[in-house]
Amino acid sequence: MQKSHRLANKNFLSSLDISTQEVLHILDLANNFKNNNLKIELNNKVLGLVFDKASTRTRVSFQVAMSRLGGTTVDLNPTTSQIGRGEPIKDTARVLSRYCDVLAIRTFNHSDIEEYAKWSTNPVINALTDLEHPCQALADFLTIKEEFVNFENVILTYIGDGNNVANSLILCGALLGVEVRIACPKGYEPNPTVIKKAYEIYKNRNLLKITNDPYNAVSGANVLYSDVWSSMGEENQKDKKEIDFKGFTIDSNLVSKAAKDVIVLHCLPAYRSKEITDEVIEGKNSRIFDQAENRMHVQQAILFCLLS
Ligand code: CP
Ligand code: NVA
Repeated sequence: MQKSHRLANKNFLSSLDISTQEVLHILDLANNFKNNNLKIELNNKVLGLVFDKASTRTRVSFQVAMSRLGGTTVDLNPTTSQIGRGEPIKDTARVLSRYCDVLAIRTFNHSDIEEYAKWSTNPVINALTDLEHPCQALADFLTIKEEFVNFENVILTYIGDGNNVANSLILCGALLGVEVRIACPKGYEPNPTVIKKAYEIYKNRNLLKITNDPYNAVSGANVLYSDVWSSMGEENQKDKKEIDFKGFTIDSNLVSKAAKDVIVLHCLPAYRSKEITDEVIEGKNSRIFDQAENRMHVQQAILFCLLS
């Protein structure tokens, strides 16, 4: 294990904030936390949780991770704090970072989290924005590593909306040299800047494939991944998306077309029988609940690195 755990960047707002080596180090640490090989006391450090959207896994995994590291959390509900009243981010960030050692923020516009990071004197973690969900991607790749030991020759196929989760899988996959295929309906492709960045990271290797054909994309895949078709904040598009995403459900038939050793992941929460069937979530290929557990081990590793 390397001597210093500190990341080169102060914040973790994007998968692009960390290097390949840092991703591997975080996964290594997370694995050690999971196997009780690492006991770290952070001496009462405080994590502030600013969540403008609902959360079960991210919020609770951060709370438990912090408590396992000997720290505490403060839950900053925007409706009961002055954030909901519209206090400027630059004021909130400067004040909160005088109380809290680190902030985890879930919000809509990615530019808002960048504004928090600009004014906060302490590290800021992206707990999900409309653009990225980088903590989720780390837990996803930890789950993949547990199954396949290393990332060589792993093909990950994401079926669904080119959303925040897809964007972070693309970027983290590129850092790890994993072949990532995205199958989405026309018009729902991932963010073009993210795609461009991933191509740059992959250099000349043709390892990112965007297609509108799910069957073509699953052929030979070792990991099938799905997420909701309508993310938080897109509830008004639900009916249209359910029509547009017809044929993009991960069901047993689609799973049978993938590699024999395929595992199925979903970041949760899921709409069963929409983007994925109940049978697949509960089936033998599913690693969805290990993936959810891994959120906590990864949060411990991220916090440890940012607070070291
Ligand atoms: N996967 C995930 O981020 O879940 P929550 O919305 O429950 O945090
Ligand atoms: N794409 C989903 C992920 C939820 C964890 C959303 O943003 O709502």
